[in-house]
Amino acid sequence: MRILSGIQPTGNLHLGNYLGAIRNWVKMQDEMNAGSECFFFLADMHSITVHEGREQRLANVRDMAAALVACGIDPDRSVLFNQARVPAHAELCWLLCGTARIGWLNRMTQFKDKAGKNREGASVGLYVYPVLQAADVLLYQATHVPVGEDQKQHLELTRDVATKFNTDFGVELFTLPDPIIPKETARIMSLRDGSAKMSKSDPSDMSRINLTDDDDAIAQKVRKAKTDPEPLPSEVAGLAGRAEALNLVGIYATMTETTPDAVCAQFAGQGFGAFKPALADVLIDRLSPIRRRYVALKDDHAALDAVLAKGAERAAAAAEPTLRRAYDAMGLMR
Ligand code: TYM
Repeated sequence: MRILSGIQPTGNLHLGNYLGAIRNWVKMQDEMNAGSECFFFLADMHSITVHEGREQRLANVRDMAAALVACGIDPDRSVLFNQARVPAHAELCWLLCGTARIGWLNRMTQFKDKAGKNREGASVGLYVYPVLQAADVLLYQATHVPVGEDQKQHLELTRDVATKFNTDFGVELFTLPDPIIPKETARIMSLRDGSAKMSKSDPSDMSRINLTDDDDAIAQKVRKAKTDPEPLPSEVAGLAGRAEALNLVGIYATMTETTPDAVCAQFAGQGFGAFKPALADVLIDRLSPIRRRYVALKDDHAALDAVLAKGAERAAAAAEPTLRRAYDAMGLMR
């Protein structure tokens, strides 16, 4: 079993990333059997699709590395690295550009969302983004890719690219990866709008809980979260059509390792005046130790750089055999 996933080092790690992906990475790392391996990386090469200056990008990569370690990624057990240090990602991306079809990329909803109305003005990088993501996964022969729901389409494309390459060149080279998307945390929604996902790019900071938020900020964001005047029902089925309420109950359930039904049973008949302080307490209780670890790690640039450099060495060694076979399958002399 090869587990692999990545995160863009742009902006803060928020509760959507944490519950949708990182928490699961840590679980998979901690439950790993002998013979399995975990690769987690900062997708800094993907981050070129968001304009940032040099200093900001450097700071973001280190911050995200510190945040992942603070969340429980252990660089001794998992291979933790930044993509830019392993050139095999960019190389395989180019090789796979010969395999991926324009029609496939045209269907990517994330490209459509991010490019917005000004398609002609979007960068080529934003368009090719899913091919680099396919390269990230296929380079390591990953079998399991823990992600949130928004990455599902990119993983489907990865499987299509792998299948077409294997068929076109008559090789059994690339492993088809399975996305791991736990149902309950597949899509954590914005605190301000139950129909939009919690996201780094939402202009309102009140829409998300960042892992860097202090206790007061968490309490304030939960207090101001959009809800409705109805009390909580005794089972989750009663929350149909109440997206904001369902999201908060889901967050509470995941943070306390229980089910939304159990949370509804616990708070049945009570309004958000009672539920919100309880949710804030749970979030503060679980997130403040992570924040404290993050603060202790984030300024030790030498230590973080050493972790990433060592991870990149291990990643490059794991990627090399697949890259070599891909060049060879295509008849490219290296
Ligand atoms: P990114 O950086 O946008 O997000 C990192 C992870 O967090 C998940 N996520 C969410 N899950 C639930 N609810 C939310 N509101 C929410 N917001 C974010 C994402 O699904 C993701 O798992 N393209 C990827 C990074 C990437 C990658 C890869 C992932 C690059 N190469 C290879 C897997 C394999 C991205 O931008 O994720």
